[in-house]
Amino acid sequence: MKTIAVIGAGTMGNGIAHTFAQNGFKVNLIDVSDAALKKGIATVTKNLDRQVAKEVLTEAQKNDTLLNIALLTDLKEGVSTADLVVEAASEKLAIKLDIFEKLDNFCKPNTILASNTSSISITQIAAATQRAEQVIGMHFMNPVPVMKLVEIISGYSTSKETLATVTKLAEQLGKTPVPVNDYPGFVANRILMPMLNEAIETLYNGVAGVQEIDTVMKLGMAHPMGPLQLADFIGLDVCLSILEVMYDGFKNPKYAPCPLLVNMVRAGKLGIKSGEGFYDYSESKKAETVSAQFQ
Ligand code: CAA
Repeated sequence: MKTIAVIGAGTMGNGIAHTFAQNGFKVNLIDVSDAALKKGIATVTKNLDRQVAKEVLTEAQKNDTLLNIALLTDLKEGVSTADLVVEAASEKLAIKLDIFEKLDNFCKPNTILASNTSSISITQIAAATQRAEQVIGMHFMNPVPVMKLVEIISGYSTSKETLATVTKLAEQLGKTPVPVNDYPGFVANRILMPMLNEAIETLYNGVAGVQEIDTVMKLGMAHPMGPLQLADFIGLDVCLSILEVMYDGFKNPKYAPCPLLVNMVRAGKLGIKSGEGFYDYSESKKAETVSAQFQ
């Protein structure tokens, strides 16, 4: 494996590109617009600067990492030479099916196609291609350069060879791969999302405020972030769509998204990326709670 194509320069995509490039791989980072690519590479540069400041990387390693990343808007050009494609586009089934159908046509016959989906069925994505045995889930965690886990999801038809290749690759990135099977939410989100949803339900029921709920989990359970802060960090729209996939997939009411989460997404309060979620991230009110309206 030498050349990796990463589709999507958003939070996850730029972190995945950063991590491969830092470990010596040639990366084609692909997105639909120059503006999205510019934003993505600016984030990679900022995070590399942080690593240099913390003496995790040297200035030369930072420059080598950036030189390993090529930016492209043409999907065919970006993936035709790739040994592995990691798709990190929007978490929408129709978009992923369309991308995988195109990848199957544009990529070399032996290219492995991976998705960074956080909950969509790998088996369903693989069915859009004629190479289901070479389709797999590679679920990185945010922030990708820091978090050690890669959840590796085998779909119904994923071959043992594909699993072995991708597992070895994740180890080459200094990550710990964990193999799991393809059921809604896999393992990470099947356990994490009910906890975040329950924290939102606790707020919705007026048991405690935002700061109080987060403090209980940070200081009582040694979580690095409280659940409401983590939900803001992940994106409330992403949390909602993962819960909906699990609710739909299991037909079990325990995964039903809290009405407050649904309302906040409808109101455009998506967390850090929109400037407000459970906390206010605008310059004037940074980290100040907006919980008063729920109490
Ligand atoms: N790129 C590179 N390095 C980064 C970084 C980034 N984007 N963000 C933080 N870092 C580094 C810092 O440089 C620092 O490095 P050192 O330890 O070498 O000093 C380290 O990470 C810790 O950062 P900070 O000191 O700035 O801040 P912190 O101690 O508060 O840690 C955090 C930040 C790592 C994000 C921590 O708060 C944390 O672990 N939060 C929980 C993250 C989590 O749960 N992620 C999973 C989300 S779920 C998901 O991703 C999957 C899904 O499908 C929804």
